[in-house]
Amino acid sequence: MNPPREVLVERLGAAVRDGRLGTWDHAVLVRRLRRWAPDLLDGLRVYTGDPTLLTALAGRVLDLIIGAYATRRPTLRELDETRVLRPDWFADARQVGYVCYPDRFGGTLAGVAARVPYLRELGVTYLHLMPLLASREGPDDGGYAVQDYRRVRPDLGTMDDLAALADTLHENGIALTLDLVLNHVAAEHAWARAAAAGDPQYADYFHTFPDRVEPDRFERTLPEVFPDFAPGNFTWVPGFRSPDGSPAAAGDTSGGTGGEKDGDGTGRWVWTTFNAYQWDLNWANPDVFCELLDVILHLVDVGVDCLRLDAIAFLWKRLGTSCQNQPEVHDIVAALRAALRIAAPGVVFKAEAIVAPEELPAYLGTGRHAGRVCDLAYHNSLMVQLWSALASGDAALARHTLAVPPPKPVTTSWATYARCHDDIGWAVSDADAAAVGLSGPAHRAFLSAFYSGAHPGSFARGEVFQANPQTGDARISGTLASLAGLQAALEPTDGGPPDPEQVDLALGRIFLLHAVVFGYGGIPLLYMGDEIGLRNDPTYLADPDLAEDNRWLHRPWMAWEDAERRHDPGTIEGRVFAGVRHLVAVRTSTPALHAAVESEPVDVGSPALLALLRRHPAGAVLQVYNVTDRWQPLPADAVRKRLGGDAHRWWERLSAWAPHVDAGRLWLAPYAAWWLTAG
Ligand code: GLC
Repeated sequence: MNPPREVLVERLGAAVRDGRLGTWDHAVLVRRLRRWAPDLLDGLRVYTGDPTLLTALAGRVLDLIIGAYATRRPTLRELDETRVLRPDWFADARQVGYVCYPDRFGGTLAGVAARVPYLRELGVTYLHLMPLLASREGPDDGGYAVQDYRRVRPDLGTMDDLAALADTLHENGIALTLDLVLNHVAAEHAWARAAAAGDPQYADYFHTFPDRVEPDRFERTLPEVFPDFAPGNFTWVPGFRSPDGSPAAAGDTSGGTGGEKDGDGTGRWVWTTFNAYQWDLNWANPDVFCELLDVILHLVDVGVDCLRLDAIAFLWKRLGTSCQNQPEVHDIVAALRAALRIAAPGVVFKAEAIVAPEELPAYLGTGRHAGRVCDLAYHNSLMVQLWSALASGDAALARHTLAVPPPKPVTTSWATYARCHDDIGWAVSDADAAAVGLSGPAHRAFLSAFYSGAHPGSFARGEVFQANPQTGDARISGTLASLAGLQAALEPTDGGPPDPEQVDLALGRIFLLHAVVFGYGGIPLLYMGDEIGLRNDPTYLADPDLAEDNRWLHRPWMAWEDAERRHDPGTIEGRVFAGVRHLVAVRTSTPALHAAVESEPVDVGSPALLALLRRHPAGAVLQVYNVTDRWQPLPADAVRKRLGGDAHRWWERLSAWAPHVDAGRLWLAPYAAWWLTAG
């Protein structure tokens, strides 16, 4: 007997009596509540240890759930039921993800719907549309400065258009993912405006300070996310009225972003981890929890199947820490997840936690949260290691680093990717680097130099993002094709003609990157344009709202005219597209790529080869990737050890041939990608 849970069950009864729920719906919710209320209550304990207050807060949450469930469309309820019967729907080998900006891909939401045949041709089952909710005017961090969670950006369409698009996607077997920006809102959001106007209720939605005392104490241990264009973590907001009604403080306005004083120099410091116009929400306030849960329930009722929890690591602040990955973050996500499971059990959470490898497992759940927080998480480390291996022609660091994390819960899955809309930060720890004889700082500096093209002999054409002279940190922008060498091969700096040999090598790297992403286990995310090898797009420089942020270099407009050539095997587009299509086809017919088992890096006796073993009951898969531009031998014994002794039964699935053993060795061509099975 769990008294708070029974109080909640009784509250469902009241919803029947007052007409909010029918008796059938009541029966459904009672079952779900009995299943998930313990998780909900456990997570909500982050707000209060008092049983009465806890039950009251859970009651508020339940009322939100009842409201959302009552208005959930029949088709979405059906989808929930189907997915409850197939809870691993997002983890099987048929999943193929695609990520795009709706305007850059389709113009509007209706335009995206019109491009569904293209997505189907690619085999896409999961579509992540980049931020599309109403964001602030002017710079908006690519839509991550949300002004109104209940409105779509007017140039893209309306909420009704979004619901219609979700229906179209569902009819075509495609799940819809949207961003949920929950660490911060735009300074122009109604909550922020009310707070700045002195409304005490809303003041408590944010972290604000009258002077630099507290901010300075926090800054001692806070890293900077955008040291270049948004240094510091606090912004002086002139005219921000103190919530206690006292006249606005006259503060010391030096030391953060924003920095301008208004006429009388009064205002408050506001916590802004990212840009000055993105105000961090105070998640220690249960009202913030309820508001964002309400937003989540609204979006899932529109038809969203997966919510990408943006910048999730930053939600909880604690003095003396980096204010990332605090344990309370996982309690909050567990409570949100439980609430969502009751209202819409077919919907999943994806963690955007770009954190150190050792911090990542907690986002998929460790300890009492195992399997109870996010269902998916970006595998940032895999992405970083792939680029690192290609630059150095050495997979030792990848093998070491990818072996470190503990296994994830079997009910969860990775989102694997080679490129996304963000920069690449060289998340290589000093300890991991040292373990393979490298210096962490030197290797990170090498990677930035290599991918910005500054390193002698580099094949890459990228740009440095947010160089931080204090830490030596420098991240990289650039499209997959440009970083993989295609741009340099097609447009040699000496102005000469394209170099066919270099083009082949670049295409080899592009295929290899995609092969790992498709073979690792998890939802492979194709980033728009990478399927036709789009190169860097410098046109953002002409837009003053975008110009200072070179991440727009790799956020191109879809080149539909170029895409027309995708069926022509003599073109770049045709060669890249055919490679991706092939990977989709082979992946889909390889059930052993189901995400329930891990890819384990194994030593096959050569640092030039990245080998990943998947021990799945459907049959083992040994993947071998040659990260160099030279032929490399693979000892047959290394394969025998993993796939069994009978070399005649070895089969390379990507090229559909039986690899030839020559004097006890197999040979991989430059950048070859092999998925070996036995039988
Ligand atoms: C996430 C987004 C990034 C954005 C940041 C702040 O990291 O991927 O583009 O700048 O959150 O919302």
